Amino acid sequence: MFASHILPVLIIAHGVFAATWIVPGAVWKDTAGNTIDAHGGGIVERSGTFYWTGQSASNDETPFMYSSTDLLNWTPLGAQASIDQMWRPKYAKPNGEFWIYGQVNRLVQPLVSSQVVGGYAVHGAAVYLPPDDYTYSDTGMFLDPASDTWYLLTSADHNNLQINQINSDGTVGSRVNVLEGSYEAPGMFKAGSTYYLIVSAKTGWTANPNKMFYSSGITGTWTGPFDIAPESENTYGSQNTFELTISGSQATTYIYMGDAWDSTGGPSSTYVWLPMTVTSTSVTLDYYSMWKVDVTTGAISYPASKKRFMAEEAKLSGRATVMACDQCIGKRSITGINSESQAVFHNITGTGSPQWISLHYSVNNPEEGQAHIYVNDEPLPVNISDLNRRAGYHKTIPVQLNLKRGDENTIRIGALGSRGKPPNLFPSLSPIIS
Ligand SMILES: *[C@@H]1O[C@H](CO)[C@@H](O)[C@H](O)[C@H]1NC(C)=O
Ligand SMILES: *[C@@H]1O[C@H](CO)[C@@H](O)[C@H](O)[C@H]1NC(C)=O
Repeated sequence: MFASHILPVLIIAHGVFAATWIVPGAVWKDTAGNTIDAHGGGIVERSGTFYWTGQSASNDETPFMYSSTDLLNWTPLGAQASIDQMWRPKYAKPNGEFWIYGQVNRLVQPLVSSQVVGGYAVHGAAVYLPPDDYTYSDTGMFLDPASDTWYLLTSADHNNLQINQINSDGTVGSRVNVLEGSYEAPGMFKAGSTYYLIVSAKTGWTANPNKMFYSSGITGTWTGPFDIAPESENTYGSQNTFELTISGSQATTYIYMGDAWDSTGGPSSTYVWLPMTVTSTSVTLDYYSMWKVDVTTGAISYPASKKRFMAEEAKLSGRATVMACDQCIGKRSITGINSESQAVFHNITGTGSPQWISLHYSVNNPEEGQAHIYVNDEPLPVNISDLNRRAGYHKTIPVQLNLKRGDENTIRIGALGSRGKPPNLFPSLSPIIS
């Protein structure tokens, strides 16, 4: 293991008090300390509480629900129905009851309950999509604020994007619009008088540049496709699942919710949520490595950086050395990190609670090499990409670590990877705001 795989240039400790942020790509824990397991999901707000429903990848794709009043701290509410293999479950309320719709065996399966949380039961058999008995994939859901009508969005016949009204008796109603093309993972929102549809290309679990189409009406003609992020970012490593609107007292914030799938859509898949800038003809994901929205005012904020630990402050072992780096923030980087050569940062202030640390580094090939991290005297390293799916592909990633309270924490950074890979110390990567 002699190739150079990593160049940590600095560590930024965010905030002395354990602030909570939305961190795209990072492992997100619920209030019980378990990883949130609600993939391909959607969110609905009722009386100030947000309910997040998604498929549980660790429980045979059963619909799981979580609730929150701040979009940050999520309380697990468990399985919502005795059903499995239900993909992309989405909540709707077309009448006095509470409904979840999802894809089962490529058909639409409605579930119904008399309450928002729990007790969802199968409502009739899974059905084909009107008008032509289509099978489909990828359930999306949209509540049109103009008419208070719910719409099911699907990849009908696994091909064209179709919009079907949900009838007031909960059944899947007529098709109101179609977008021709090979798209999936639809989500929709309305801003001003314009309807925006966000869709993914079909590349399995691998991320692709998701696209936006817009229309002046739910039954209107779609204009597009338009990029929502630089193509090379592949939607920041994610696939669309839902769009959430926060209408605050100061601002209306539109939120993109995506899934950062692992290679099998399994339990280590994470979430990429980002605010969007919306104009009458464009939607742009605003990338922040950490951010949050005040659900009362609608205002977005992100952390101020605290103390930075630069390359030359690290104690180095083995073949690790400090070298000049024009593009690095501190103009220095560390090269030669490998399994026997580490960079050790001492005297990092800890809160005694889980806290966010931004790592600035790059790896030759994230598929073949893993940067890992040891905290204090913990005997086992943690692969940084297990903490954040964006690790290795992007220069700056936040990871959540447990540091002791006080100023004497130590972080050791090492790497594993294939021997003999030519070091690529200055890969061209997109700029990241930390
Ligand atoms: C860490 O802080 C202690 C106490 O201030 C100091 O004695 C020690 O030299 C520091 N270690 C490093 C590596 O800076
Ligand atoms: C960390 O990554 C390395 C290299 O890919 C791998 O060999 C090792 O098993 C991983 N460790 C864990 C705990 O997954």
